Amino acid sequence: MKSPSTGSQHQRGGRRSAAVLITGAGGEVGHGLIGALHASGGRQIVAIDIRELDAKQRAMCQDSFVGDICDRSLLERLLAMYEITEIYHLAALLSTRGEFTPETAHEVNVNGTVSLLRLAAEQARSHGQRVKFIFPSSIAVYGMPSVEIKGEAGAVGEDEFCRPITMYGCNKLYCEHLGRYYSHHYRLLAQDRVPDVLDFRSIRFPGLISADTLPSGGTSDYGPEMLHAAAAGKEYACFVRPDTRIPFMTMPDAIDALLKLAEVERKRLGQCVYNVTSFNPSAGEFATLAKKCFPRAKIRFEPDEQRQQIVDSWPENVDDGAARRDWGFAPRHDLQRAFEEYLVPRISARYR
Ligand code: SER
Repeated sequence: MKSPSTGSQHQRGGRRSAAVLITGAGGEVGHGLIGALHASGGRQIVAIDIRELDAKQRAMCQDSFVGDICDRSLLERLLAMYEITEIYHLAALLSTRGEFTPETAHEVNVNGTVSLLRLAAEQARSHGQRVKFIFPSSIAVYGMPSVEIKGEAGAVGEDEFCRPITMYGCNKLYCEHLGRYYSHHYRLLAQDRVPDVLDFRSIRFPGLISADTLPSGGTSDYGPEMLHAAAAGKEYACFVRPDTRIPFMTMPDAIDALLKLAEVERKRLGQCVYNVTSFNPSAGEFATLAKKCFPRAKIRFEPDEQRQQIVDSWPENVDDGAARRDWGFAPRHDLQRAFEEYLVPRISARYR
């Protein structure tokens, strides 16, 4: 890892070089995103994570920093070295972990986001161009009042049932509003106001399933955990009831969605925040498929009442019509293709 205080090599003739900044780069989404951005070429990637990235990820970045996104001096050192034109702000404490330390989750999820939004606004003012701010939000922003209403509601729209019951969900919902504020109303009354400093775009992700990495600290984790355990021939005690149903998508589709939303012309976007989804099997249906694809699977159900409450508060499906219309969201993997073309071959290879 390079020291953040030695940035001279990145300044050409006193000018900072342009870069895309990824926070929380060591997480599951960061893992896929760094690879995809690197493969698309042409842009320098600067990464931040609380832990050191692995060597393979590091090699795809121009620079990587170990540190806290709430550390203002770290962000300032970074800005002295790079001209940030686009930010993928992935750092967050997820819904399960956040419930053990809610105030820490707030610190990271909200104050960290405000630091990044402010940094983006300052960057835009300094280089005179709007900074793109791509923000993964979550189905955790929803709060279905009861399992019965969840069943009746079906696919919910972006503005329905936004009454989250977790700190993470509250934080994501509020940060969606902050992004809209920084995009359209920042410093509303200031005499020297520069309009349009930020171009904030957000995707509300369902549970994500990667063949290459395992999640940690989330509550949709039972999906990917079950699959990886099944492929590895390990016993898995699923912490939700078999009838539990929430939406999911594969990691490659999630990464494609982020890149697609980032690229589309701004005038095509009718809103700042978009639902996306691909498939929504119940946990029981998931287990049946996992057993069919991985004969060594040993899955049992041992619902944890508290985590169950969280998943029950998330909708069984989301309406992603706006994403399909405005920027052509079209996931490659429905449930069958996800298993046949992506999960089974890739996860099997991993545990062979
Ligand atoms: N995967 C997240 C979680 O479980 C939801 O976005 O917390």
